[in-house]
Amino acid sequence: MTGHTPAPRGFLWGAATAAHQIEGGNVNTGHWELEYAPGSTIPEPSGDACDSYHRFPEDIALLADAGLTAYRFSVEWARIEPEEGVVSRAQLDHYRRMIDACRDRGVEPVVTLHHFTFPRWWEHSGGWYSERSTDRFRRFTEVCTALLDDVDWVITINEPNMMVNQTEARIDTENGVNFPGPSPYLARAIASAHHASTEVLRGFGGVKSGWSVANQVFQAVPGWETQRDEWQYWREDFFLEQARQDDFIGVQSYLRTIIGPSDDAEGFGPQPWPEGTERTLTGWEYYPEALGHALRHTHEVTGGIPMVVTENGMATSDDTRRVDYTTGALSAMADAMEDGCDVRGYLHWSLLDNYEWGSFRPTFGLVAVDRETFARSPKPSLSWLGGLARRNVVPR
Ligand code: NOJ
Repeated sequence: MTGHTPAPRGFLWGAATAAHQIEGGNVNTGHWELEYAPGSTIPEPSGDACDSYHRFPEDIALLADAGLTAYRFSVEWARIEPEEGVVSRAQLDHYRRMIDACRDRGVEPVVTLHHFTFPRWWEHSGGWYSERSTDRFRRFTEVCTALLDDVDWVITINEPNMMVNQTEARIDTENGVNFPGPSPYLARAIASAHHASTEVLRGFGGVKSGWSVANQVFQAVPGWETQRDEWQYWREDFFLEQARQDDFIGVQSYLRTIIGPSDDAEGFGPQPWPEGTERTLTGWEYYPEALGHALRHTHEVTGGIPMVVTENGMATSDDTRRVDYTTGALSAMADAMEDGCDVRGYLHWSLLDNYEWGSFRPTFGLVAVDRETFARSPKPSLSWLGGLARRNVVPR
């Protein structure tokens, strides 16, 4: 690394969060229900999370004061539509106040409509397997347009591919058989909801919309390229292909996955990381170069549509290592941009140490949050990233 290179004018420099991971008291979600079910296998419930439902002005101020120019957050469907067809005006107003707080601070709001959590009624009435899932998500998008007047960037669905990968219901109802691996039926159901939502947003005008796909940088053990391609299709490429008409695609990158021989049903799968590999607090390999590969692969499969890095970061208690990781990732991004990747922004995961789907232990934040008092303590990485934003430069 030799220095810095200018980022394009108007490049978005920001940080990302998701409602359930920071708001607290998200009682109407199916996830909350699972967290608090007797005998729950979820190690830690979300509880008050970071209390950002009340403290969002402080969070946005911290981000803006550091020099960042964009804040990605999600609206919580379970708050806005707590019962099917019942829309809460007060909750819409709440999210509108968040957008206004961004605008007042000169911060570009990047709004995610769906980030992993669902209202309980949705979970109890078929979820993505309901015939009505597309209509329900279309209607929810219509409801959300009330918020979006001066919002330029909207993400319809976060990591649809992880929702499919992680689902335990591996019944492919199209074929009526148990299907090893991700269900194409489910993948198509979520894609259909995305397209319906995009149609609504397009009709609304002015908004740039897309979805955010988890990019796992699938690499092959030499000789296992065909199997790698097969492995990756329903776990990633299908979702990238869906974006070919969209205004942009969100790229989310943390790690790589090496595919080779395995004993499981498919006969091939992820290989263990070699002994001695540096791991983050989520157990993932420390591999900042992943972002460059993720951008290049996304560029190729989507036919070169604009990209925004909507998540990238590292769970660590060592903030110096977080800066190292992010420097490596940004430098890989700069190389990919020089080679023709059209990247419009970088949104770090995450603004705050937050609820990592079962535990508060993996700390991804640029800002620490006291678990008792919710007091915010910015880490050096926040002012470091803000400094790049102020100068609009990328480390090389
Ligand atoms: C992707 C998800 O969108 C986010 O919710 C999660 O916390 C991060 N990855 C880190 O695992």
